Amino acid sequence: MRRKKGERMLGIIGAMDEEVAKLQEKMADAAIVEKAGMKFFSGKLMGNDVVVVRSGIGKVNAAICSQILVDEFHVSAIVNTGIAGSLRSEINIGDIVLSTDALQHDMDAVAFGYPAGQIPRMDVLAFPADKALLELAEACCHEVNPEIGVWTGRVVSGDQFVSSKEKKNWLVETFGGSCTEMEGAAIAQAAYQNKIPYLVVRAISDKADDSANMDYQEFEAAAITHSVKLLLALAERFHS
Ligand code: ADE
Repeated sequence: MRRKKGERMLGIIGAMDEEVAKLQEKMADAAIVEKAGMKFFSGKLMGNDVVVVRSGIGKVNAAICSQILVDEFHVSAIVNTGIAGSLRSEINIGDIVLSTDALQHDMDAVAFGYPAGQIPRMDVLAFPADKALLELAEACCHEVNPEIGVWTGRVVSGDQFVSSKEKKNWLVETFGGSCTEMEGAAIAQAAYQNKIPYLVVRAISDKADDSANMDYQEFEAAAITHSVKLLLALAERFHS
């Protein structure tokens, strides 16, 4: 689906089938295009134009997927949905974190004098999320998920499932992150370089500590329910 001039088209990326399947089921008139091993579902969600895609896990998949959304589907904004590990004691399993900005915690050119997370020769450490999308998502979340906490903060992404106290503490001390996952900052970087707005929306499935692996398996489904509800409300309101 090509976007006509002036039309707004929202790209929605989830890393795993579980994160996007419910959204794809609710789409009307979906056309499916396959590229780079990813199925792009373009059509209407809650009456508005969207492309929903499962990128696969990790930063490289997420970056490839974002660039295809920009080049082939001409999306006007990207929202990344899914689950994450909490980095703050007050952010509980089941809560939602909305990105204020995102960075790649496994980018390390410290030996050349760059701070941890800084991509050499880029002009920002963390990629700022879109304020309007953030405010819209916050309002939607309070409305559709009134029983859970909604937080805003820094998303720190890396090609690692974080499941140790030591690593978690390092992420908090070094970056002041609110949650950790494996795609958001790559999508943020792609959005930044293509000059389009983005937002990361993550439901907390675990606390990124020594019990993360067990918690993740237990709470993944409930966490996804919260992010799906929010994404449906966001898709409905994105164009108004
Ligand atoms: N996604 C959900 N929980 C995570 C964690 N602890 N680390 C990285 N990605 C995650």
